[in-house]
Amino acid sequence: MNSAPPPPRRRGSLLERAVERYGFQPGVGLRPVGQATAGPPVPDPVPAPARAPEPIDRERLAERGMLVPNGPVSALAEEFRLVKRQLLTAAREGEARPRSVLVCSAQPNEGKTFCAVNLALSLAAERDLEVLLVDADFAKPDVPDTLGLPTGPGLLDALADPTVDVESCVIPTDVPHLSVLPAGTRSDNDTELLASDRARALLDRLEQANPRRLMVFDSAPVLAASTAAALAEHVGQVLMVVRADRTSESDLREAVGLLDGCDTIQLLLNAVSLQPRGRRFGSYYEAEEEA
Ligand SMILES: Nc1ncnc2c1ncn2[C@@H]1O[C@H](COP(=O)(O)OP(=O)(O)OP(=O)(O)O)[C@@H](O)[C@H]1O
Ligand SMILES: [Mg+2]
Repeated sequence: MNSAPPPPRRRGSLLERAVERYGFQPGVGLRPVGQATAGPPVPDPVPAPARAPEPIDRERLAERGMLVPNGPVSALAEEFRLVKRQLLTAAREGEARPRSVLVCSAQPNEGKTFCAVNLALSLAAERDLEVLLVDADFAKPDVPDTLGLPTGPGLLDALADPTVDVESCVIPTDVPHLSVLPAGTRSDNDTELLASDRARALLDRLEQANPRRLMVFDSAPVLAASTAAALAEHVGQVLMVVRADRTSESDLREAVGLLDGCDTIQLLLNAVSLQPRGRRFGSYYEAEEEA
């Protein structure tokens, strides 16, 4: 990171600026997603009875410095609006699974869950979207706790057992347009389950259940668990969180190399340690405003 050139003094999008700083061209040199193969038939699910929305713990979100639904407009909210617009543009242009986004990072503790939850909250404010936030960090499933939601059966249960209707695992919330799919019960072969044709069919079903649905996956660190790379095969976009004070360039390059199952990879700079004037996200804002 130390060898990275200084940030340019112009106002591009957060992602563009992150890409410039780290010298990556999203998509370049990355293999296109393979052709979808028809998986084994998954039985038609019995429609799940309507479930009462669970309340999101807004105080907890505020305590953690995260977006609060219907909260005041903040710098953080504006940053996630920028990120959201980039993703929605890419989703419109994407060919394979445009409506699914994997949020990952190279190493633990770089802000994946923070970014995935904030992004999902920001997206849920869109009028035309139904956001499904999927907890796909099976070793450290932090999404329900972050939002103050109960946990329960989830993605892994539906993958392991075709009689489990994945929609019945989806938790509606009291934030309009936001639902959560918990990680579910771990097994010894999570990665193999995720890489299976059944996973592809199940994610297809989730996506097709509602034409307005957009799925955001909070994943495990790419260099610490193989599940992130397996999931990248199934999504239209990857958002790679880069923590300005921590992620090394070699880790970043290695992680991007492992995500070659997805041809749209964008970088998101999460600058936790830079907090002058209360801004915690997007250090390039700081550089520009202080110049
Ligand atoms: N931009 C930010 N501003 C303030 N706090 C942040 C920011 N990004 C991350 N954090 C905090 O840093 C800690 C680690 O973040 P988070 O849990 O999102 O990381 P993670 O990559 O999901 O970690 P893990 O790999 O363990 O799942 C959390 O306490 C989170 O609230
Ligand atoms: Mg996490």
